[in-house]
Amino acid sequence: MIQALRGMKDIISPDNEKFVHVLKTAGEIAERYGYEYIETPLLEETQLFKRSVGESSDIVGKEMYQFIDKGGHDVCLRPEGTAGVVRMFIQNKLDKKGGVHRMYYHGPMFRYERPQKGRLREFHQFGCESFGEGSVYEDFTIILMIKDIFDALGIGYRIKINSLGCPECMPGYREHLIAHLNDIRDGLCEDCQRRIETNPIRVLDCKVDSCQALLKEAPVITEKLCETCDADFSTLVKLLDAHALPYELDPKLVRGLDYYTRTAFEFVSDEIGAQSAIAGGGRYNRLVEFLGGKPTPAVGFALGIERILDLVKMPEKRREGIYLGVMVPEALDTIVDLAHKKRRDTKVFTEYNKKSLKAHLKAADRLGAEYCAVIGEDELSTGEIWVKNLETKEEKRVAISEFD
Ligand code: HAM
Repeated sequence: MIQALRGMKDIISPDNEKFVHVLKTAGEIAERYGYEYIETPLLEETQLFKRSVGESSDIVGKEMYQFIDKGGHDVCLRPEGTAGVVRMFIQNKLDKKGGVHRMYYHGPMFRYERPQKGRLREFHQFGCESFGEGSVYEDFTIILMIKDIFDALGIGYRIKINSLGCPECMPGYREHLIAHLNDIRDGLCEDCQRRIETNPIRVLDCKVDSCQALLKEAPVITEKLCETCDADFSTLVKLLDAHALPYELDPKLVRGLDYYTRTAFEFVSDEIGAQSAIAGGGRYNRLVEFLGGKPTPAVGFALGIERILDLVKMPEKRREGIYLGVMVPEALDTIVDLAHKKRRDTKVFTEYNKKSLKAHLKAADRLGAEYCAVIGEDELSTGEIWVKNLETKEEKRVAISEFD
């Protein structure tokens, strides 16, 4: 028997309804914030992710679905959405146009990680990217939008924020950090020892307890920010306070992708186990230029749809539509015609097998139909249809000519 690949999941009942509800809710809210829907390809040149997400990141170093296609091109399945959107932004010369461009997307992402609860190899993200607005008010607005999305879905969260500085302050901080890491080098795990050379900032979010114990005295980036980064971070904190958004300052929040500058944030849930990040994002002011475009400030986020499915509170479900069935096969043509007419303005469930009234009522109930309408021998002879409102339990016979 052929099985789905490890870490890849079918999205079927009951999750499919929640999945659609998340996309609809998040999409409507994003549109209210001025974002427009876009699609970018699932496959991109491997180089795109190496240059944006970063060669030393785990995503690029260990987790890419990378292969050579039939034309000899080095390609990979997207591990995240931002890089492709930035590539599209530059390719379509939107960077040259100026102004603000806000876009949202959703779809599958692929990371060859070790599967566990909340961690898949194919997972779905809903994401937003805003280009051209350098104000920290935009960072705040994005955080507010995520809050609106989770509130609308009935999901609780904690917000963690940090600033990752800019090219002016980050190198100085890096030097301080490297000096400290070299002092404690012998006590760090092998991965961290290697990261001191390749990506020292990533040492800060190592999950090994003994490393974390040693990192307690590590220099804190938010204490080494330049004036502009510091002012922006203070404004963000002030805005969050003013709008009563609950946040925690987390100087160890460094994110797993290398393109961030200044604001970095994560929404976490305490109800889903170790893989607790339900959304993450931040500002990436240098990425457009780095990939060959005109310097353009940008900020965005993505939320993991599978991670929140168990947390989503669905709105109360109402009965909807008409179930149409027959007790005599001679009525089938009438049912087909009626179904086609009714579908113009309502949902229709058809059953083409002859069944008892009881069986039809049971099927209509299971499908969540509001009405169960059936033609039996008597109705066929009088040109009528028997209809029951499954909500009010009212039953009646209606002339077929009046039913549509
Ligand atoms: P990320 O933090 O790597 O950021 O992913 C965003 C969210 O995707 C995570 O918070 C998590 O909910 C979900 N996620 C990540 N990996 C997995 C997995 N293996 N299985 C299930 N869910 C997962 C990004 O991808 C950035 N592109 C976000 C961004 C947009 N930053 C700026 N703009």
